[in-house]
Amino acid sequence: MKDILLELETRRGTARMGGGAARIQAQHAKGKLTARERIELLLDEGSFEEFDMFVAHRCTDFGMQDQRPAGDGVVTGWGTVNGRMVYVFSQDFTVFGGSLSETHAQKICKIMDMAMQNGAPVIGLNDSGGARIQEGVASLAGYAEVFQRNIMASGVVPQISVIMGPCAGGAVYSPAMTDFIFMVKDSSYMFVTGPDVVKTVTNEVVTAEELGGASTHTRKSSVADGAFENDVEALAEVRRLIDLLPLNNRQKPPTRPFFDEVARVDQSLDTLIPDSANTPYDMKELILKLADESDFFEIQADYARNIITGFVRLEGSTVGVVANQPTVLAGCLDIDASRKAARFVRFCDAFEIPILTLVDVPGFLPGTAQEYGGVIKHGAKLLFAYGEATVPKVTVITRKAYGGAYDVMASKHLRGDFNYAWPTAEIAVMGAKGATEILYRAELGDKDKIAGRTRDYEDRFANPFVAAEKGFIDEVIMPHSTRRRVCRAFASLRGKQVQNPWKKHDNIPL
Ligand code: HXC
Repeated sequence: MKDILLELETRRGTARMGGGAARIQAQHAKGKLTARERIELLLDEGSFEEFDMFVAHRCTDFGMQDQRPAGDGVVTGWGTVNGRMVYVFSQDFTVFGGSLSETHAQKICKIMDMAMQNGAPVIGLNDSGGARIQEGVASLAGYAEVFQRNIMASGVVPQISVIMGPCAGGAVYSPAMTDFIFMVKDSSYMFVTGPDVVKTVTNEVVTAEELGGASTHTRKSSVADGAFENDVEALAEVRRLIDLLPLNNRQKPPTRPFFDEVARVDQSLDTLIPDSANTPYDMKELILKLADESDFFEIQADYARNIITGFVRLEGSTVGVVANQPTVLAGCLDIDASRKAARFVRFCDAFEIPILTLVDVPGFLPGTAQEYGGVIKHGAKLLFAYGEATVPKVTVITRKAYGGAYDVMASKHLRGDFNYAWPTAEIAVMGAKGATEILYRAELGDKDKIAGRTRDYEDRFANPFVAAEKGFIDEVIMPHSTRRRVCRAFASLRGKQVQNPWKKHDNIPL
């Protein structure tokens, strides 16, 4: 009996060593943790329950029958994050470069199926050279099985991908279908084909970092939602995000104890808006002043910075925030901002997370670059996302809400539940100068006359009261009391129930 127990321990010990001491050392030398060390950091201490530790591949080509490491390059199982259940897979780069074989895929599929059945998030720690080359189509089939599950799980359980090494081919398409992708700076890459293939096919010379590093994907491509300094920080931030999310689409977002006064008055907000309409101010200041304990988890902080997206807590409950940022492009909506915010709004709606929208938008960014790029279609994504969302929606217009952008930003007409405006709000078809130049084109030569017309237009429309008279604004509120008003609004919406008409699915302008 003792021998049998000993054998189990020996087998476990071997499995835990993955690709062996030398490769583990090489992994550490690159500043990367091993698959198991990452799981230890991600989950609550001692909570990890492993599946399939002894699964080995079945390939016999290229001499593979002689190398059959237990676990086959991926560690899978479940555990808890601050007591809440999550499923996890962590690819082991020390075993065939974390490449995905048929059996490696089956291990991932098993935990994804269990996550769906039991209603818990899936966190993938990706460190993989893609399809296992020795297995050919069997590994491609394995990827497609994972992809199919990513698609079925979308909108049912949160799926989070952390890119923690060089990820190529199929190793990037599975993350691409998950809700959030985070990268580690300087040690993770994502590309469909690496720099060598790029050079062969297109003659383009590019480094891995330029092609698919964290900076590329958080600033240029928007493939990734955030990047962190190292493995430890990335895993700690994923824990922080999990704390904000519901476990599945049938649960409400978690509520946790909060240490901030709901009715907290912030007098400094009364002077947040500068005297000149063209002077920017930092919308993040407002977000931090509204949030419980000033805690804000930002999504896509470095991309389309003219719009801010992320999560806060109000009265301990998660709320998604979408806010125009006047310090970047004057807060205009453009293609990138519309896509970024639309995806965020749809995530929130899929997982019953209420949405707070803070509006200061002079309109859509004009110009050929935007029109040729399809701003009509991309802008429509955000309009569509807000209009179809059935979660509680509270909107505060702080300053400008002009033109189509007024409609788009969770207006009353798109089923906004509470639409507040500060006294500094300006709600109109366009800014006063542009409006008078169109309405009084014949008088353009007379500067004084035009200045007078502009003042008249400002007096009439550069305020929230015309919209308030029509009931499009429910209440004009004092900036200093915004937190209290917004918290009370969301509290009153906890029982909200709205159903969209039955359909197979909508046809959002992709
Ligand atoms: C089998 C692989 C592998 C793979 C790496 N290895 N990728 N084994 N299949 N796909 C092995 C290496 O042979 C090596 O084994 C070990 O992993 C470490 O790899 P290195 O190349 O030494 O490491 P590094 O220099 O850090 O480079 C990592 C890498 C590179 C950038 C990932 O290995 C690479 O380019 N791999 C191939 C990527 C690729 O083209 N994959 C197929 C994509 S197609 P030893 O024994 O020496 O330690 C695909 C199709 C799906 O995925 C498409 C679905 C839409």
